[in-house]
Amino acid sequence: MKKLYFGDCLDVLKELYKEHPQGFIDLIYIDPPFNSKRDYNILFEDIDLKDVKAQKEAFADTWSNVSYLDTLEEIKELNLDLYKLLKTLDEINISQSAVSYLTTMAIRIFYMHKVLKETGSFYLHCDPYMSHYLKMVCDFLFGHQNFRREIVWSLNTSSGYKSQAANWIRNHDVILYYTKSNNYTFNKQFYPYKEEYIARFKKVDKDGRRYRDDRTSKEKQYLDETKGIAIGDVWNDIMSFQQASTTKEYMHYPTQKPEALLERILKTSSNPKELVADFFCGCGTTISAAETLKRSWIGADISHLAIKLIIDRITKSKPEHRAKKLKEEIEIAGFPRDIASAHELASNVRKGRFGFQEWIVEVMLGGVLNPKLTADGGWDGHIAFEKMAEKKKGIVLIEVKSGNVNVKNIREFIQVVNKREVDLGVFVCFASSITQPMIKEAKQQGHFDESNYGKRIDKIQIITVEDLLDGKEINLPFGLYKKNTFNHVSEKKEEYGIQEEIFK
Ligand SMILES: C[S@@+](CC[C@H](N)C(=O)[O-])C[C@H]1O[C@@H](n2cnc3c(N)ncnc32)[C@H](O)[C@@H]1O
Repeated sequence: MKKLYFGDCLDVLKELYKEHPQGFIDLIYIDPPFNSKRDYNILFEDIDLKDVKAQKEAFADTWSNVSYLDTLEEIKELNLDLYKLLKTLDEINISQSAVSYLTTMAIRIFYMHKVLKETGSFYLHCDPYMSHYLKMVCDFLFGHQNFRREIVWSLNTSSGYKSQAANWIRNHDVILYYTKSNNYTFNKQFYPYKEEYIARFKKVDKDGRRYRDDRTSKEKQYLDETKGIAIGDVWNDIMSFQQASTTKEYMHYPTQKPEALLERILKTSSNPKELVADFFCGCGTTISAAETLKRSWIGADISHLAIKLIIDRITKSKPEHRAKKLKEEIEIAGFPRDIASAHELASNVRKGRFGFQEWIVEVMLGGVLNPKLTADGGWDGHIAFEKMAEKKKGIVLIEVKSGNVNVKNIREFIQVVNKREVDLGVFVCFASSITQPMIKEAKQQGHFDESNYGKRIDKIQIITVEDLLDGKEINLPFGLYKKNTFNHVSEKKEEYGIQEEIFK
């Protein structure tokens, strides 16, 4: 199984529990947003721009104070002891946002516990501000006896702004490790021995095996039988991206965790082919580690940008045919994958934060949504690209129409493209809406900059939703900006700068 869910993990978990009331997952790791003001909007903290406002709100919504009382009532039906714990915390007046956060997490952890197999393991990545509260919640749900370790991941950072603190430098995250029962997988992990230690195995037997017999017992100890130094519960050998921000693996996703961390957890608490899940999967670190280690996987995230990013992440380093096969294997729930569900989204049957325009512009075309979405006479998004010969940025405007269209709509869009003096325009609609006059009108607008690129590119292109679902791409000049939203946060900022300049 390789499955991504776009949406709130609570909905996903409830659905999974209904399908598998006995539990079916071998290992769950989660790294939810922490409960600090900063983290409410952590996903987009570097991109404080209008068109991500809805996403910000979506993110903040999850932890809103309004909904936690309803959730508390829901928990009352599910686990009375847990309810009493949260209710008491509420009454003794620890901060409201902390209770809200805990309640929100508690119900999700309740279902995670349910969907775990009896032999399953659970890792909860958090910080010292909330770890003690979360530990109480987990003790209630998993049973105190099934608490295995508190792992301290030492971030090893004391440089930069952190060193300004008039305090001990905060240098670690906490990972709470539980199992569902006493019967669980634990593949012990070891650090390799240092060179000096290995050098002590000076002797070689008749089979060529290195050994030592210089210890008091005089017993032979073979090098190939020694496993290394058993890893403890303080991990300080895995660098965070605060230290290693230039590594190839770093996708600039806020709070992204290193793959080495997840590989250690997966190797320890699961075996190949087993099922691993991350219900706050962000840019897919767990998923990528699961792919590398040949585990099956499930990921969920409330941000469609995260989902898109994961697919790019796990397919990009593969040869084309393997990437294609992998893409086919990945199931995505929550995104339209066929024309019927695209129509459904277009007609707003699926109510939610995610709109048809957003899906086309950001997911299908890798563009940026227009912050000033208007019903008509505008455009829905844009893509920026590098005009190599002129060393300038070029702009492609995108217009998305979900209903019936005719040649008048194309003419209006052409006017916008010309008025804004951008390089290209892409008009997206359903195949059933396209008419010959529309195609003719678009063709009449000529080509883009042939002399520079030696490639015939229609200035106005019409592409259908059906084509996009079939994997067809629009015809764009070379040097198109990277098709993802997080890889180049700073470039993105510049891009928005352009938007401000050009699209006043
Ligand atoms: C701390 S980040 C996880 C980062 C991840 N470990 C990585 O390495 O990329 C938390 C993620 O939880 C997602 N999220 C927040 N609320 C959610 C919810 N209710 N359901 C699913 N995902 C959610 C956010 O979109 C964000 O990507």
